[in-house]
Amino acid sequence: MKARVGVLISGRGSNMASLVEASHASDCPYEIVLVISNVPDAPGLAFAAANGIPQFALSHKGMKRVEYDSIIDGVLRDANVEYVALAGYMRLLSPEFVAKWAGRIVNIHPALLPAYKGVDTHQRVLDAGETKHGATVHIVTAELDDGPILAQAEVPVFPSDDVDALAARVLIEEHKLYPKAMADLVRRR
Ligand code: GRF
Repeated sequence: MKARVGVLISGRGSNMASLVEASHASDCPYEIVLVISNVPDAPGLAFAAANGIPQFALSHKGMKRVEYDSIIDGVLRDANVEYVALAGYMRLLSPEFVAKWAGRIVNIHPALLPAYKGVDTHQRVLDAGETKHGATVHIVTAELDDGPILAQAEVPVFPSDDVDALAARVLIEEHKLYPKAMADLVRRR
C-alpha cells in the first residue's frame, strides 16, 4: 500500500505536479490523495482536477489561523492522509497543527537552508553576490523554514543571472528533489 499524501498549495503548484507525476511510478511509495489550497483560484488546482485528485479549497481570509488549520486538519484526516507536503503553501501553520502532524509534514524551500529563510530568496541571493544557491526539503516545525533537513540540491549562480533565470534553474532541481526526498522519508517509516 502506498502512503497517502496530502499536498497544500497556494499558487502555481508545479512542485505538487512533480509529486503527482512521480507518484504514478509503480515503485513510488506514496500517492497524492488530496490537494488543499488556501487560495480558491490557485492555478495548481486545475492540474489536480485534470488528474482526478480530490481537492479542497478554502480562503483563510477572516479566519483565525488556529481555526483555519483545524478545518484543514479535519479534511486531511477524513481523507486518511498520512503525510502532508507543503508545495508553495504561503502560510505559516499554527503550532497546534504542526504538533498534530509532527515529523509527517515536509516543505520545499527555494534556498540552501539554513541560509535565506523566508521570501524573495532568489533576489536576496543575487543581491548578496552568492555563487551557489539551491533548494531544501525539510521537516516542518513551528518556526518558519526551520526543522531537520532531509535533502538539498545546489545550483550555480552566474553573473548574468536575473531572478527569473535563477528561479528557473532552482525550480528544475526542486522538481527532482521533492519527489525523491518524499519517497526517502516514506520508505523510512
Ligand atoms: C517553489 O519555489 C517552492 O520552493 C517555494 O514556492 C515555490 C512554489 O512553486 N516554496 P510551485 O507553486 O510549486 O510551482
